[in-house]
Amino acid sequence: MVCVPQLEVESRNKKRVFSGVQPSGSLHIGNYLGAIGRFALFQEGYDCFYSVVDLHAITVPQDPAELRRRTVATAALFIAAGLDPEKACIFVQSDNPNHAELAWVLQCIATFGELGRMTQFKDKARGKKSVTAGLFTYPVLMAADILLYDTDVVPVGEDQKQHVELTRDLAERFNKRFGVTFKVPEPLIPAQGGRIMSLTDPLRKMSKSDEDPDSRIEVLDSPEEIARKFKKAVTDSGREIVYDPEKKPAVSNLMTIYSLFSGKSLEEVRDAYEGKGYGVFKSGLAELVAEKLRPVRERYSELMSSGEIEKILKDGAERAYGISSSKMKEVKEKVGLCSRLSL
Ligand code: AMP
Ligand code: TRP
Repeated sequence: MVCVPQLEVESRNKKRVFSGVQPSGSLHIGNYLGAIGRFALFQEGYDCFYSVVDLHAITVPQDPAELRRRTVATAALFIAAGLDPEKACIFVQSDNPNHAELAWVLQCIATFGELGRMTQFKDKARGKKSVTAGLFTYPVLMAADILLYDTDVVPVGEDQKQHVELTRDLAERFNKRFGVTFKVPEPLIPAQGGRIMSLTDPLRKMSKSDEDPDSRIEVLDSPEEIARKFKKAVTDSGREIVYDPEKKPAVSNLMTIYSLFSGKSLEEVRDAYEGKGYGVFKSGLAELVAEKLRPVRERYSELMSSGEIEKILKDGAERAYGISSSKMKEVKEKVGLCSRLSL
């Protein structure tokens, strides 16, 4: 649905939320608990924009057909996880050319030094023979995503905090140099679940790019796969179910997952499994997670076979383009770029 201007004015009484997820690899329960599972929480009270950030996904080598498939699949998962396209704008980043254009302008105020300090870049570049310039400037594209929409709040996992801080710095720097243009956004990181750890190494975060698929539970895993992976998950010494991230990082991570999927506090989880040992706890956890993800899996399959996603993404792109174009025009005027075409 393309919004008429009147509705646009009304919706600006609400605060605006923006978040993005890359269509690289399958989404796992870290993505779900840290980000996409929370997206729907904002759709009633906020004016929401959620983007499948495919331009970010080409900063590392990709298979074109697979990227196209995953882009649509990621959007379908947004909806399967509870987003309503009538309430939130869901779109693909590359459908809106303003993102890449603003990223260029912001690259011209971001410094080499500050980008070199980004820990995600350092992690992703480590050990690689060749690293693209796109991977280096990736956080600036993320800043453009956020700043184009006058975003107030950015719900993300812990690993994106530094990128949102960079976004704030770039917004402030631009505003100071060229006059107030951008809203300075706030990151919103969940108190619990902002950093779900790997099942095979609880000192590393659960990640799409981990070579070992058993390190993560994917949102679309079957109940059997979920049970197998939790069964295989590393545990700590002893057999007590206690929350102590320092001394028992593996069990603490599993307890966090249990707590978030069940809505029970960590103390309630501990009490429920007191004296029962890791085996019983892990099979209870597997059952819980499989059951909570069942409706997401079912809705996802329906959406993928119905073909309705394409229409949703087209409408979303039109709305995103319409709203961000006035910001882009303002930016170009402020920095001295004049347009000779009347578009
Ligand atoms: P990405 O897979 O990097 O596109 O991340 C999509 C969203 O999931 C971002 O908001 C991340 O911060 C979040 N996220 C990724 N991995 C985790 C994790 N292990 N725990 C919690 N949130 C995560
Ligand atoms: N960089 C984010 C990640 O890897 C994805 C992302 C791109 C994003 N643009 C964004 C997240 C804007 C929030 C807002 O997870």
